[in-house]
Amino acid sequence: MSTGYPDLDALLPRLEAIATLSAEALEAEEIAVLGRKAGELTAALKRVASLAIEERKRYGAAVNQLKQRFEAAFAARREALESERKQGEQAGIDLTMPARTRWVGAEHPVTRVVDEIVGIFREIGFTVALGPEVETEWYNFLALNFPADHPAMDMHDTLYLDAPPAEGEPAGRLLLRTHTSPVQIRTLLASPPPVRVVIPGMVYRNDAFDASHSPAFSQIEGLAVDEGISFVDLKATLIHFAHRFFSPSTKTRFRPSFFPFTEPSAEMDVECQLCHGSGCPACKGTGWMEILGCGMVHPAVLENCKVDSEKYTGWAFGMGPHRIAMLRYGIPDIRLLMEGDMRFLGKLGE
Ligand code: PHE
Repeated sequence: MSTGYPDLDALLPRLEAIATLSAEALEAEEIAVLGRKAGELTAALKRVASLAIEERKRYGAAVNQLKQRFEAAFAARREALESERKQGEQAGIDLTMPARTRWVGAEHPVTRVVDEIVGIFREIGFTVALGPEVETEWYNFLALNFPADHPAMDMHDTLYLDAPPAEGEPAGRLLLRTHTSPVQIRTLLASPPPVRVVIPGMVYRNDAFDASHSPAFSQIEGLAVDEGISFVDLKATLIHFAHRFFSPSTKTRFRPSFFPFTEPSAEMDVECQLCHGSGCPACKGTGWMEILGCGMVHPAVLENCKVDSEKYTGWAFGMGPHRIAMLRYGIPDIRLLMEGDMRFLGKLGE
């Protein structure tokens, strides 16, 4: 509804807008329009005095009318805001509570470690292979040269499935793979040498869930099979890996070990990342931390995969990214990497 005066009409959109103002904006707008010193309508009223008598009456009446409309609108909005506030209070909503900030995602530390390790091997010509988490006894044990009565195949040691293998799979019980090594067999059967692969994935064991064990954890397997591959290639590649992943000056050592599918076998340690070799509780005072098992692929394994062990040799390793993430980030309990607690993961993801 026009006031008949353009200077007053210019204020009408602001009158309309009052119904949408917040409490703070409402207060500011009230001062801007009705304020005694600089209010728009106060200024208009002051102009009345300078007008001729007739005009003074008409203009003055128009200003007063508009002022009343503004006053009514401010009062109505204030009431509406107040009743909104009361309703919120009754519903248990506290409008003064700070808003929840948006969650920023980050990679899980184990995912990050897996990607980094795979990346380092890709740089030197390895490709990635994957295999199933439900395996047959043949791939998980027998093809890897475990004797048929090996205790690792005991029902109590491993998680078996109560189901028969799929058609075309070797006979025997199904189980959750206990390591990524069965994918060595699958890779060699699918593609004859030369082969250079890394194989990330989850593995399962009938283990307790405590600070240093978990019934499910990750592994990365490595396999290189070609003509003329020796233990020198194994050592050089794994030392290169340790220098790239930890630091160029990280010390490493190999200790003799045993796995049915490698001969000779070794375990590789890196200098403790927390005390750098002087000995601390994390490395049980030794100054070293074990990061992987490795060895030269046993000729029987090559023959099980129809690879001529007179012509080809190879080496393999298996490491645990969960444990490596614990070493790298100084995490004392593996369960922290499994529980999905944002107070912990949020800190590491920063
Ligand atoms: N599969 C072994 C384990 O889980 C590790 C390993 C892999 C050792 C390859 C030698 C070669 O303990």
